[in-house]
Amino acid sequence: MTNALLHPFSPPAKPEADYLEIVRGEGSLVFDAAGRDYVDGIANLWLCQVGHGRTEIIDAVTAQMRQIEAYNTFAPFTSGPAARVAEMIVERSPHPDGRVFLGCSGSEAVDTALKLARLVQQRRGHEGRQIIVKRTNGYHGTNFGGTSAQGIALNREGWGDLVPHFIEVPHDDLEAAATVFAEHGDRIAAVLTEPVQGAGGVYPPVDGYLEGLRRLCDDNGALLIFDEVICGFGRTGQWFGAQTFGVTPDLMTFAKGVTSGYQPLSGVIVSRAVCNELEEPGFLLRTGYTYSGHQASCAAGIANIELMEAEGLVGRVDNIGERLRAGLAALEGDGLIKSWRGMGAIYAAELGRDAVPARDKMLEAGVILRPMGTCLAICPPLVITDDEIGRIIDAMADALR
Ligand SMILES: Cc1ncc(COP(=O)(O)O)c(C=O)c1O
Repeated sequence: MTNALLHPFSPPAKPEADYLEIVRGEGSLVFDAAGRDYVDGIANLWLCQVGHGRTEIIDAVTAQMRQIEAYNTFAPFTSGPAARVAEMIVERSPHPDGRVFLGCSGSEAVDTALKLARLVQQRRGHEGRQIIVKRTNGYHGTNFGGTSAQGIALNREGWGDLVPHFIEVPHDDLEAAATVFAEHGDRIAAVLTEPVQGAGGVYPPVDGYLEGLRRLCDDNGALLIFDEVICGFGRTGQWFGAQTFGVTPDLMTFAKGVTSGYQPLSGVIVSRAVCNELEEPGFLLRTGYTYSGHQASCAAGIANIELMEAEGLVGRVDNIGERLRAGLAALEGDGLIKSWRGMGAIYAAELGRDAVPARDKMLEAGVILRPMGTCLAICPPLVITDDEIGRIIDAMADALR
Protein backbone atom coordinates (compact mmCIF):
# COMPACT_ATOMS: atom_id res chain seq x y z
CA MET A 1 0.00 0.00 0.00
CA THR A 2 1.45 3.38 -1.00
CA ASN A 3 0.78 6.71 0.69
CA ALA A 4 -0.87 8.18 -2.43
CA LEU A 5 -4.10 9.01 -0.58
CA LEU A 6 -4.13 12.39 1.20
CA HIS A 7 -6.74 12.03 3.97
CA PRO A 8 -9.19 14.81 4.97
CA PHE A 9 -8.87 16.37 8.45
CA SER A 10 -5.91 14.05 9.13
CA PRO A 11 -2.17 14.42 9.68
CA PRO A 12 -0.52 13.95 6.25
CA ALA A 13 2.51 12.43 7.99
CA LYS A 14 0.45 9.43 9.17
CA PRO A 15 1.25 6.47 6.90
CA GLU A 16 -1.55 4.72 5.03
CA ALA A 17 -0.73 1.47 6.82
CA ASP A 18 -1.73 3.03 10.18
CA TYR A 19 -5.33 3.68 9.11
CA LEU A 20 -8.27 1.40 9.93
CA GLU A 21 -10.23 0.25 6.90
CA ILE A 22 -13.97 -0.32 7.20
CA VAL A 23 -14.98 -2.70 4.42
CA ARG A 24 -18.57 -3.68 5.14
CA GLY A 25 -21.67 -2.55 7.01
CA GLU A 26 -24.97 -3.95 8.20
CA GLY A 27 -27.49 -1.91 10.18
CA SER A 28 -25.64 -0.05 12.93
CA LEU A 29 -22.59 -2.30 12.65
CA VAL A 30 -19.55 -1.90 10.43
CA PHE A 31 -16.77 -4.44 9.89
CA ASP A 32 -13.02 -4.08 9.32
CA ALA A 33 -10.95 -6.11 6.87
CA ALA A 34 -10.29 -8.76 9.55
CA GLY A 35 -14.04 -9.24 10.06
CA ARG A 36 -14.23 -7.47 13.47
CA ASP A 37 -17.49 -5.67 14.08
CA TYR A 38 -17.91 -2.16 15.51
CA VAL A 39 -21.05 -0.32 16.66
CA ASP A 40 -21.11 2.77 14.45
CA GLY A 41 -21.89 5.28 17.19
CA ILE A 42 -21.29 8.26 14.88
CA ALA A 43 -23.34 6.97 11.90
CA ASN A 44 -20.32 7.24 9.56
CA LEU A 45 -19.92 11.00 10.12
CA TRP A 46 -23.27 12.19 11.53
CA LEU A 47 -25.24 10.89 8.59
CA CYS A 48 -26.24 7.24 8.20
CA GLN A 49 -29.86 7.45 9.43
CA VAL A 50 -31.13 4.17 7.91
CA GLY A 51 -28.06 2.08 8.77
CA HIS A 52 -25.62 0.35 6.47
CA GLY A 53 -26.20 -2.22 3.74
CA ARG A 54 -29.82 -1.30 2.94
CA THR A 55 -30.66 -3.12 -0.29
CA GLU A 56 -33.70 -0.87 -0.85
CA ILE A 57 -31.39 2.08 -1.56
CA ILE A 58 -28.73 0.05 -3.35
CA ASP A 59 -31.36 -1.39 -5.69
CA ALA A 60 -32.92 2.02 -6.34
CA VAL A 61 -29.53 3.51 -7.25
CA THR A 62 -28.66 0.53 -9.45
CA ALA A 63 -31.99 0.71 -11.27
CA GLN A 64 -31.50 4.44 -11.86
CA MET A 65 -27.97 3.95 -13.15
CA ARG A 66 -29.20 1.32 -15.60
CA GLN A 67 -31.50 4.02 -17.02
CA ILE A 68 -29.01 6.86 -16.96
CA GLU A 69 -26.20 7.41 -14.48
CA ALA A 70 -26.25 11.21 -14.67
CA TYR A 71 -27.34 14.02 -16.91
CA ASN A 72 -27.16 17.68 -16.01
CA THR A 73 -30.17 19.79 -15.00
CA PHE A 74 -28.96 23.09 -16.47
CA ALA A 75 -31.73 24.58 -18.66
CA PRO A 76 -33.19 23.20 -20.88
CA PHE A 77 -32.68 19.83 -19.11
CA THR A 78 -34.38 18.37 -16.09
CA SER A 79 -34.48 15.06 -14.28
CA GLY A 80 -37.47 13.20 -12.84
CA PRO A 81 -35.54 11.95 -9.79
CA ALA A 82 -34.25 15.48 -9.02
CA ALA A 83 -37.74 17.00 -9.31
CA ARG A 84 -39.18 14.18 -7.20
CA VAL A 85 -36.62 14.33 -4.40
CA ALA A 86 -37.01 18.13 -4.26
CA GLU A 87 -40.76 17.67 -3.90
CA MET A 88 -40.32 15.06 -1.13
CA ILE A 89 -37.93 17.35 0.73
CA VAL A 90 -40.09 20.50 0.65
CA GLU A 91 -43.14 18.47 1.66
CA ARG A 92 -41.36 17.49 4.89
CA SER A 93 -39.87 20.92 5.49
CA PRO A 94 -41.41 24.10 6.92
CA HIS A 95 -41.47 25.40 3.32
CA PRO A 96 -43.91 23.12 1.44
CA ASP A 97 -44.37 25.91 -1.14
CA GLY A 98 -40.62 26.53 -1.40
CA ARG A 99 -38.05 25.05 -3.79
CA VAL A 100 -34.81 23.10 -3.50
CA PHE A 101 -31.43 23.81 -5.06
CA LEU A 102 -29.32 20.62 -5.21
CA GLY A 103 -25.61 19.93 -4.79
CA CYS A 104 -23.46 17.06 -3.57
CA SER A 105 -21.88 18.18 -0.30
CA GLY A 106 -22.78 20.18 2.77
CA SER A 107 -20.02 22.62 1.85
CA GLU A 108 -21.60 23.23 -1.54
CA ALA A 109 -24.98 23.77 0.10
CA VAL A 110 -23.56 26.27 2.61
CA ASP A 111 -21.70 28.28 -0.02
CA THR A 112 -24.82 28.35 -2.20
CA ALA A 113 -26.99 29.50 0.71
CA LEU A 114 -24.51 32.31 1.47
CA LYS A 115 -24.54 33.37 -2.20
CA LEU A 116 -28.34 33.24 -2.37
CA ALA A 117 -28.67 35.37 0.77
CA ARG A 118 -26.43 38.07 -0.69
CA LEU A 119 -28.10 37.75 -4.10
CA VAL A 120 -31.56 38.31 -2.65
CA GLN A 121 -30.38 41.39 -0.77
CA GLN A 122 -28.82 42.75 -3.98
CA ARG A 123 -32.00 42.09 -5.91
CA ARG A 124 -34.01 43.90 -3.22
CA GLY A 125 -31.79 46.90 -3.85
CA HIS A 126 -29.72 46.50 -0.66
CA GLU A 127 -26.27 46.36 -2.30
CA GLY A 128 -24.66 47.31 1.01
CA ARG A 129 -25.95 44.23 2.80
CA GLN A 130 -23.07 41.77 2.67
CA ILE A 131 -22.35 40.91 6.29
CA ILE A 132 -23.00 37.36 7.47
CA VAL A 133 -23.33 36.92 11.23
CA LYS A 134 -22.04 33.52 12.38
CA ARG A 135 -21.48 31.82 15.73
CA THR A 136 -18.51 30.54 17.68
CA ASN A 137 -18.33 26.71 17.45
CA GLY A 138 -20.20 26.76 14.14
CA TYR A 139 -19.09 24.26 11.50
CA HIS A 140 -20.17 25.05 7.96
CA GLY A 141 -17.93 22.99 5.71
CA THR A 142 -14.60 23.74 4.11
CA ASN A 143 -15.22 25.60 0.85
CA PHE A 144 -14.13 29.24 1.04
CA GLY A 145 -17.57 30.51 2.14
CA GLY A 146 -17.97 27.78 4.73
CA THR A 147 -14.37 28.19 5.90
CA SER A 148 -14.99 31.92 6.38
CA ALA A 149 -18.18 31.04 8.28
CA GLN A 150 -16.42 28.60 10.59
CA GLY A 151 -16.72 29.34 14.29
CA ILE A 152 -13.89 26.89 14.96
CA ALA A 153 -10.88 29.21 14.76
CA LEU A 154 -8.30 26.57 13.86
CA ASN A 155 -10.25 25.62 10.73
CA ARG A 156 -9.97 29.19 9.45
CA GLU A 157 -6.21 29.44 9.86
CA GLY A 158 -3.50 28.88 7.27
CA TRP A 159 -5.46 29.52 4.08
CA GLY A 160 -4.64 33.18 3.53
CA ASP A 161 -7.38 35.76 3.13
CA LEU A 162 -10.91 34.42 3.52
CA VAL A 163 -14.22 35.84 2.29
CA PRO A 164 -14.78 39.29 3.85
CA HIS A 165 -17.78 40.56 5.84
CA PHE A 166 -18.26 37.74 8.36
CA ILE A 167 -18.85 38.75 11.99
CA GLU A 168 -18.65 36.11 14.72
CA VAL A 169 -20.77 36.21 17.87
CA PRO A 170 -20.47 33.99 20.97
CA HIS A 171 -22.69 30.97 20.35
CA ASP A 172 -24.94 31.31 23.41
CA ASP A 173 -25.27 35.08 23.80
CA LEU A 174 -28.27 36.65 22.09
CA GLU A 175 -27.34 40.06 23.52
CA ALA A 176 -24.06 39.92 21.59
CA ALA A 177 -25.97 39.25 18.37
CA ALA A 178 -28.33 42.14 19.20
CA THR A 179 -25.31 44.42 19.65
CA VAL A 180 -23.95 43.45 16.22
CA PHE A 181 -27.36 44.25 14.73
CA ALA A 182 -27.46 47.58 16.58
CA GLU A 183 -24.09 48.50 15.09
CA HIS A 184 -24.38 47.03 11.58
CA GLY A 185 -28.10 46.27 11.10
CA ASP A 186 -28.43 47.91 7.68
CA ARG A 187 -25.39 46.06 6.33
CA ILE A 188 -26.31 42.53 7.46
CA ALA A 189 -27.38 40.12 4.72
CA ALA A 190 -28.03 37.09 6.89
CA VAL A 191 -27.40 35.15 10.07
CA LEU A 192 -26.01 31.63 9.59
CA THR A 193 -26.49 29.05 12.33
CA GLU A 194 -26.88 25.35 12.94
CA PRO A 195 -30.01 24.64 15.05
CA VAL A 196 -27.90 22.30 17.22
CA GLN A 197 -24.19 22.97 16.71
CA GLY A 198 -22.65 19.63 15.77
CA ALA A 199 -19.00 19.26 14.82
CA GLY A 200 -18.08 22.27 17.00
CA GLY A 201 -18.95 20.27 20.11
CA VAL A 202 -22.70 19.42 20.11
CA TYR A 203 -24.33 22.52 21.60
CA PRO A 204 -28.14 22.74 21.56
CA PRO A 205 -29.34 26.35 21.47
CA VAL A 206 -29.95 28.06 24.80
CA ASP A 207 -33.64 28.76 25.48
CA GLY A 208 -35.06 31.43 23.21
CA TYR A 209 -31.85 31.82 21.20
CA LEU A 210 -33.12 30.74 17.76
CA GLU A 211 -36.38 32.66 18.28
CA GLY A 212 -34.27 35.69 19.19
CA LEU A 213 -32.20 35.39 16.02
CA ARG A 214 -35.41 35.16 13.98
CA ARG A 215 -36.69 38.35 15.62
CA LEU A 216 -33.43 40.21 15.03
CA CYS A 217 -33.46 39.20 11.36
CA ASP A 218 -37.10 40.22 10.92
CA ASP A 219 -36.63 43.57 12.65
CA ASN A 220 -33.56 44.39 10.57
CA GLY A 221 -34.33 43.01 7.10
CA ALA A 222 -31.79 40.17 7.30
CA LEU A 223 -32.32 36.57 6.23
CA LEU A 224 -32.01 33.64 8.63
CA ILE A 225 -30.12 30.60 7.33
CA PHE A 226 -30.25 27.30 9.21
CA ASP A 227 -27.42 24.92 8.38
CA GLU A 228 -29.27 21.62 8.84
CA VAL A 229 -26.54 19.41 7.37
CA ILE A 230 -26.47 17.39 10.61
CA CYS A 231 -29.85 18.33 12.14
CA GLY A 232 -31.90 17.61 9.02
CA PHE A 233 -33.56 14.27 8.30
CA GLY A 234 -34.70 13.34 11.75
CA ARG A 235 -31.69 13.89 13.97
CA THR A 236 -33.46 16.24 16.40
CA GLY A 237 -36.75 14.29 16.53
CA GLN A 238 -38.54 16.01 13.62
CA TRP A 239 -37.62 16.04 9.95
CA PHE A 240 -35.74 19.32 10.46
CA GLY A 241 -34.37 21.20 13.46
CA ALA A 242 -36.49 24.17 12.35
CA GLN A 243 -39.58 22.14 13.26
CA THR A 244 -38.15 20.81 16.52
CA PHE A 245 -37.36 24.34 17.70
CA GLY A 246 -40.39 25.97 16.10
CA VAL A 247 -38.35 28.59 14.24
CA THR A 248 -38.64 28.96 10.46
CA PRO A 249 -35.56 30.17 8.59
CA ASP A 250 -35.55 31.68 5.08
CA LEU A 251 -32.94 29.29 3.73
CA MET A 252 -32.04 25.81 5.02
CA THR A 253 -29.10 23.67 3.99
CA PHE A 254 -29.13 19.88 4.15
CA ALA A 255 -26.83 16.99 3.12
CA LYS A 256 -25.70 13.83 4.97
CA GLY A 257 -28.96 12.21 6.22
CA VAL A 258 -30.85 13.00 2.99
CA THR A 259 -29.29 9.86 1.46
CA SER A 260 -27.77 8.35 4.63
CA GLY A 261 -24.54 8.51 2.62
CA TYR A 262 -25.47 6.00 -0.08
CA GLN A 263 -24.70 8.69 -2.67
CA PRO A 264 -23.55 12.30 -2.21
CA LEU A 265 -26.48 14.72 -2.19
CA SER A 266 -27.06 18.11 -0.58
CA GLY A 267 -29.12 21.20 -1.11
CA VAL A 268 -30.68 24.44 -0.03
CA ILE A 269 -34.39 24.73 0.76
CA VAL A 270 -35.54 28.17 -0.35
CA SER A 271 -38.62 29.83 1.16
CA ARG A 272 -41.48 31.02 -1.06
CA ALA A 273 -40.62 34.69 -0.33
CA VAL A 274 -37.03 34.16 -1.51
CA CYS A 275 -38.25 32.16 -4.54
CA ASN A 276 -40.50 35.09 -5.48
CA GLU A 277 -37.40 37.25 -5.64
CA LEU A 278 -35.64 34.78 -7.96
CA GLU A 279 -38.59 33.97 -10.21
CA GLU A 280 -38.71 37.38 -11.84
CA PRO A 281 -38.98 36.83 -15.62
CA GLY A 282 -35.65 37.28 -17.38
CA PHE A 283 -33.50 36.61 -14.31
CA LEU A 284 -30.85 33.87 -14.72
CA LEU A 285 -29.48 32.14 -11.59
CA ARG A 286 -25.76 32.00 -12.34
CA THR A 287 -24.65 29.38 -9.86
CA GLY A 288 -24.77 25.60 -9.80
CA TYR A 289 -22.78 22.40 -10.03
CA THR A 290 -22.25 19.81 -12.74
CA TYR A 291 -23.80 17.30 -10.36
CA SER A 292 -26.74 19.45 -9.17
CA GLY A 293 -29.57 16.94 -9.50
CA HIS A 294 -27.31 13.92 -10.22
CA GLN A 295 -29.79 11.14 -11.00
CA ALA A 296 -28.14 8.38 -8.97
CA SER A 297 -27.84 10.66 -5.93
CA CYS A 298 -31.46 11.74 -6.22
CA ALA A 299 -32.58 8.10 -6.53
CA ALA A 300 -30.71 7.40 -3.29
CA GLY A 301 -32.44 10.37 -1.64
CA ILE A 302 -35.90 9.21 -2.71
CA ALA A 303 -35.30 5.64 -1.51
CA ASN A 304 -33.77 6.85 1.76
CA ILE A 305 -36.70 9.15 2.59
CA GLU A 306 -39.17 6.37 1.69
CA LEU A 307 -37.31 3.99 3.98
CA MET A 308 -37.20 6.50 6.85
CA GLU A 309 -40.92 7.04 6.43
CA ALA A 310 -41.80 3.33 6.16
CA GLU A 311 -39.80 2.47 9.28
CA GLY A 312 -40.87 5.52 11.30
CA LEU A 313 -37.23 6.39 11.96
CA VAL A 314 -37.88 10.03 12.93
CA GLY A 315 -40.21 8.68 15.62
CA ARG A 316 -37.45 6.39 16.95
CA VAL A 317 -35.37 9.39 18.03
CA ASP A 318 -37.27 9.80 21.31
CA ASN A 319 -36.38 6.29 22.46
CA ILE A 320 -32.76 6.58 21.29
CA GLY A 321 -32.42 9.89 23.11
CA GLU A 322 -33.97 8.56 26.30
CA ARG A 323 -31.55 5.63 26.44
CA LEU A 324 -28.49 7.68 25.58
CA ARG A 325 -29.37 10.32 28.18
CA ALA A 326 -29.88 7.64 30.85
CA GLY A 327 -26.53 6.04 29.97
CA LEU A 328 -24.68 9.35 29.96
CA ALA A 329 -26.29 10.40 33.25
CA ALA A 330 -25.12 7.12 34.81
CA LEU A 331 -21.56 7.69 33.55
CA GLU A 332 -21.67 11.19 35.01
CA GLY A 333 -23.08 9.83 38.29
CA ASP A 334 -20.16 7.39 38.47
CA GLY A 335 -17.72 10.24 37.90
CA LEU A 336 -16.48 8.72 34.63
CA ILE A 337 -17.43 11.77 32.54
CA LYS A 338 -17.59 15.39 33.70
CA SER A 339 -20.89 16.20 31.98
CA TRP A 340 -22.87 15.61 28.82
CA ARG A 341 -24.96 17.70 26.46
CA GLY A 342 -27.20 17.14 23.46
CA MET A 343 -30.76 16.37 22.49
CA GLY A 344 -32.66 14.12 20.09
CA ALA A 345 -30.14 11.59 18.77
CA ILE A 346 -26.99 13.74 19.01
CA TYR A 347 -24.84 14.00 22.17
CA ALA A 348 -21.38 14.83 23.48
CA ALA A 349 -19.78 13.34 26.59
CA GLU A 350 -17.43 15.88 28.17
CA LEU A 351 -14.31 14.18 29.51
CA GLY A 352 -12.41 17.30 30.53
CA ARG A 353 -9.28 15.98 28.83
CA ASP A 354 -8.11 14.99 25.33
CA ALA A 355 -10.68 12.50 24.05
CA VAL A 356 -8.45 10.70 21.54
CA PRO A 357 -7.10 8.05 23.99
CA ALA A 358 -10.68 7.18 25.06
CA ARG A 359 -11.74 6.98 21.41
CA ASP A 360 -8.84 4.62 20.70
CA LYS A 361 -9.70 2.38 23.68
CA MET A 362 -13.32 2.26 22.54
CA LEU A 363 -12.24 1.28 19.04
CA GLU A 364 -10.36 -1.67 20.57
CA ALA A 365 -13.63 -2.59 22.30
CA GLY A 366 -15.57 -2.41 19.03
CA VAL A 367 -17.34 0.95 19.29
CA ILE A 368 -16.77 3.98 17.05
CA LEU A 369 -17.27 7.48 18.49
CA ARG A 370 -15.74 10.75 17.31
CA PRO A 371 -13.37 12.76 19.49
CA MET A 372 -13.86 16.54 19.43
CA GLY A 373 -11.26 18.16 21.65
CA THR A 374 -12.17 17.12 25.18
CA CYS A 375 -15.41 15.35 24.35
CA LEU A 376 -16.70 12.29 22.53
CA ALA A 377 -19.55 12.73 20.05
CA ILE A 378 -22.39 10.18 19.81
CA CYS A 379 -24.71 10.35 16.82
CA PRO A 380 -25.88 6.83 15.95
CA PRO A 381 -27.93 5.50 13.04
CA LEU A 382 -31.65 5.92 13.74
CA VAL A 383 -32.04 2.13 13.43
CA ILE A 384 -29.73 1.46 16.39
CA THR A 385 -31.05 -1.17 18.82
CA ASP A 386 -31.27 -0.81 22.61
CA ASP A 387 -28.55 -3.49 22.95
CA GLU A 388 -26.24 -1.56 20.65
CA ILE A 389 -26.81 1.64 22.66
CA GLY A 390 -25.93 -0.42 25.75
CA ARG A 391 -22.74 -1.54 24.03
CA ILE A 392 -21.75 2.10 23.41
CA ILE A 393 -22.32 3.11 27.04
CA ASP A 394 -20.58 -0.01 28.43
CA ALA A 395 -17.56 0.47 26.16
CA MET A 396 -17.34 4.11 27.25
CA ALA A 397 -17.46 3.11 30.92
CA ASP A 398 -14.73 0.48 30.42
CA ALA A 399 -12.54 2.83 28.38
CA LEU A 400 -12.80 5.62 30.96
CA ARG A 401 -12.17 3.28 33.91
C1 LIG B 1 -23.45 21.73 9.89
C2 LIG B 1 -22.55 21.33 8.77
N1 LIG B 1 -22.50 22.09 7.66
C3 LIG B 1 -21.73 21.76 6.62
C4 LIG B 1 -20.94 20.63 6.64
C5 LIG B 1 -20.08 20.29 5.47
O1 LIG B 1 -20.54 19.16 4.81
P1 LIG B 1 -19.59 18.37 3.81
O2 LIG B 1 -18.49 17.77 4.62
O3 LIG B 1 -20.50 17.36 3.17
O4 LIG B 1 -19.09 19.35 2.81
C6 LIG B 1 -20.95 19.81 7.77
C7 LIG B 1 -20.13 18.58 7.83
O5 LIG B 1 -19.99 17.95 8.85
C8 LIG B 1 -21.77 20.17 8.87
O6 LIG B 1 -21.81 19.43 9.98
